[in-house]
Amino acid sequence: MEYRTLGSSPLKVSAVGLGTWAIGDDFWGSVADSDSIKAIHAAIDAGINLIDTAPAYGSGHSEEVVGKAIRDRRDKVILATKVGILREKGAFNRNLKPESVRREVDDSLRRLGTDVIDLWQIHWPDVSTPLEETVGEIDRIREQGKIRFLGVSNFDVELIERVRKLTEIVSVQPHYSLLERTIDAELLPYCAGQGIGVLGYGTLAGGLLTGKFKKLPRFEAGDHRDNFYPFFKEPTFGKAQKLLAVLAEIAGERGRSVAQVAINWAIRQRGMTSALVGAKSPSQAQQNAAAGEFALSPSDLERIEIAWKEAGLARPAK
Ligand SMILES: NC(=O)c1ccc[n+]([C@@H]2O[C@H](COP(=O)([O-])OP(=O)(O)OC[C@H]3O[C@@H](n4cnc5c(N)ncnc54)[C@H](OP(=O)(O)O)[C@@H]3O)[C@@H](O)[C@H]2O)c1
Repeated sequence: MEYRTLGSSPLKVSAVGLGTWAIGDDFWGSVADSDSIKAIHAAIDAGINLIDTAPAYGSGHSEEVVGKAIRDRRDKVILATKVGILREKGAFNRNLKPESVRREVDDSLRRLGTDVIDLWQIHWPDVSTPLEETVGEIDRIREQGKIRFLGVSNFDVELIERVRKLTEIVSVQPHYSLLERTIDAELLPYCAGQGIGVLGYGTLAGGLLTGKFKKLPRFEAGDHRDNFYPFFKEPTFGKAQKLLAVLAEIAGERGRSVAQVAINWAIRQRGMTSALVGAKSPSQAQQNAAAGEFALSPSDLERIEIAWKEAGLARPAK
């Protein structure tokens, strides 16, 4: 596994991180906690040290499962969670009011079974709360030693610059994969130039970039991933299949899986620190972790770039 410095922090994070939205068990179909815990252990054993969760994932359930899984291995993990999205009657509501932020940190610490969060990330912007008030409260929480470093998620460059005038952030967490490359234009070069870490999420486009969905899938009740990721419909699904054919060729030549090629592509992009990849089983976690153990060649990357353009993916997903 390759390890990389996270922005201006001293943290060395694995180039492949483990995402734990799916194991919240309320949005991605049902996952047994015992399988989730085995997946987390397999990820750590395979060299992943960055685990990303959020209170919003299963209304705290993902944090609880992560907490149980790392109880006897806290020192092996860089624990990243988030603040600012409350699950209320099934909705994902933004709330960065100081009193809510203050409540959330203690709730997260309790669920995670730890006394410090390594990376606390503002999950989404909340336009109804002045950023100054949120950041002021977060700084007080940091002074109390409850969090080590601050990051943001789903922030554009303009908003990042506003936060940086108020406090130090070490990372940003944007949506990033071969099917969602909006950040190529501005955010990635900005972060590379400013030394801000980038943790890309949705690296497998909700599983589509594993190549396992040959036809438009119908997900089981309770699995809403196709609401969040806009790729499980035409024309994007068909375009993705064209790209996947080339990823499969490269995977075959290298003795790797399609998922590993898609993940490795993401961590080879300039400015990317780590790709956050979800896993529901030990074998998925092991396979995804191993994507951090090889490097696609410049000619592989060139072929992928050409295939991406020829598939018509340069236009935003509709
Ligand atoms: N900040 C944000 O707003 C935000 C938003 C989204 C995600 N995230 C973070 O990013 C993480 C990753 O994104 P994601 O979990 O949404 O999606 P993802 O990583 O693109 O896809 C994960 C899903 O793909 C399938 N999969 C994973 N590895 C596989 C393999 N090797 N072979 C076959 N199938 C495999 C699994 O589902 P099945 O087995 O059921 O197909 C898994 O749940 C999240 O868990 C979360 O931590 C953050």
